[in-house]
Amino acid sequence: MSQKIIVVGAGYVGLVAGACFGSAGFTVGIVETNPDKLRSIKDSNVPFYEPGLSDLLKEGIAKKRLSFYSNQKDALESLNAQFIFCAVGTPESPDGSANLSYVEAALKDCVLNSKNHVYFIIKSTVPVGTSQKLQKMADNITPGKVSVLNNPEFLKEGTAVSDFLRPERVVIGGSPEAVEKVGAIYESFLLNQKPLIKIDSVSAELAKLGANLMLASRVSVVNQIARLSSATGADIRSIEKVLQSDSRIGSKYLYAGLGFGGSCFPKDIKNFIDLCKKQGVDASVAEAIDTFNDEQKLIFVNQIIKDFPKASSTRIALLGLAFKPETDDVRESPALAIVEKLSALGYRFNAYDPKAMETFKASVKKESNVRYCSCSEEALKDADALLLVTEWQEFQRIKAEDLKTCFKGKHVYDGKNVYSATALKDAGYIYYGVGRS
Ligand code: UDX
Repeated sequence: MSQKIIVVGAGYVGLVAGACFGSAGFTVGIVETNPDKLRSIKDSNVPFYEPGLSDLLKEGIAKKRLSFYSNQKDALESLNAQFIFCAVGTPESPDGSANLSYVEAALKDCVLNSKNHVYFIIKSTVPVGTSQKLQKMADNITPGKVSVLNNPEFLKEGTAVSDFLRPERVVIGGSPEAVEKVGAIYESFLLNQKPLIKIDSVSAELAKLGANLMLASRVSVVNQIARLSSATGADIRSIEKVLQSDSRIGSKYLYAGLGFGGSCFPKDIKNFIDLCKKQGVDASVAEAIDTFNDEQKLIFVNQIIKDFPKASSTRIALLGLAFKPETDDVRESPALAIVEKLSALGYRFNAYDPKAMETFKASVKKESNVRYCSCSEEALKDADALLLVTEWQEFQRIKAEDLKTCFKGKHVYDGKNVYSATALKDAGYIYYGVGRS
C-alpha cells in the first residue's frame, strides 16, 4: 500500500506539491478551505497559470491517487495519513512580519484530529523559530502527538512542476529522527546525487529566507552596475557576459532589468528585515535591496516624462504585465508600479500580456488609464511608445521590420534588454535599455 500524505493549502506550493507527490505514487489528500478553489481543482482546473500542473492533476485524479477535502479533519479521518505538509499562506502583515494565523490553525487541526502520531511539515515560508514555537504549541495541547518540521520549498513559478520533481536539493529541518522519516519521502525525487540536507529547523527556516535574499541581491547588484553602465556609456549586456564567465560569480540571476517582483523575493526580504529588527541585527543590506528594487521598477519613468511631457495625449503600449514570463502572477510586478505611477500623471496605456490580463485587471487601481488589447499588434497600433516589461518569447521575437507595420511611435523602452539596440536604432527608433547606451 502506498504511503499517505496530506497537503494543507492548494496555492502554488501546496497544489504543485500535492500533484507531484501523487505522480510519484503517493496517496495524497489535498485540503483547501476556499469552496470555489476546491471545486475548480477537483475538476483539474488550476486556478492560476502553471505549465504542466493541470495535466498532473488530471493524471492523479484518474489514477485515484489524489483526493480533495474542504477541511483537515475529514482528510485525516479518511486517509489516516502520517505526513501532513502545511502550505497555507503567510501573508505580509502591515508591519512587514508574516501572519502565521493560517499555519497555527492548520497545526491545531492536526493535533486535535489525528488519531496517531503525525509529522507536521511546514512548507510555507515562515519566520525563523516558527517550527520550534509550533512544536511547543502542539505539545501544550497533546504532548508527543505531533513532530513539527520545516521543509522549505524552492520552486519557481513557471517551472514549478519540474523544480519539484527534480529539485537541486531538498532541505529538511527538525529533530534527527523526524528528519530521517520525512527525508525518505523524497528519495525518488533526488536523482544524480542531488543532496538531501538534514538540518535543524531554525537553520532550515533561515536558509529559505537567505536563499531568496541572496538571489534578489544578485539581481539588485547587476541592476546597480546597470545604472552606472547607462551613465558611463558602457553596455550591461557585455558586462553580464564578463561577470557570468567567472565561475566564482556564476551565471544565474545576473540579468539587469526592471527589478524583481513576485510573491516571494519582495515579501521574504521584508520578512528578513523584520526578523533582523526583532533580533537587534543591522538589516542595512537587505533594506537597501528592498528600496533599490522599488526604484528600479520605475527606472524609465523620468525618461518617459521627459520624452513625452504631454501626459494625457501619450499612449504607451505596455507589453507584459506578469512579474516574469510563464506565469499569470502580477504580484509586485513592475507593470503595476509603472501603471500606477504614470496613470496618476495622466498617461494612457494599451496593455497586453499572453496570460496575465485578468490578474492584472483585478490588481491595478480601477481609475488607471488602461485599455486592454488582444495582442501586441493591437497594443502597438495607436501607441506613441513601446514599453516592454515582461520578456515573454512572443515579445522577444518582435523585430524592427514588424514594428514598421504596426507601430506609429518611435520610442522603445526595453525593460528586459531583449531587443537589438543597433537594429532598432538603424531602423530609426529611439531605443532605451536598462544599462545600455
Ligand atoms: C523565487 C525563487 O527563485 C524560488 O526559489 C522561491 O521558491 C520563490 O521565489 P519566483 O518568484 O518564482 O521564485 O521567481 P524567479 O524566477 O526566482 O524570479 C524572481 C524575480 O527576479 C522575477 O521578477 C525575475 O524577473 C527577476 N530576475 C530574475 C531578474 O530581474 N534578473 C535575473 O537575472 C533573474
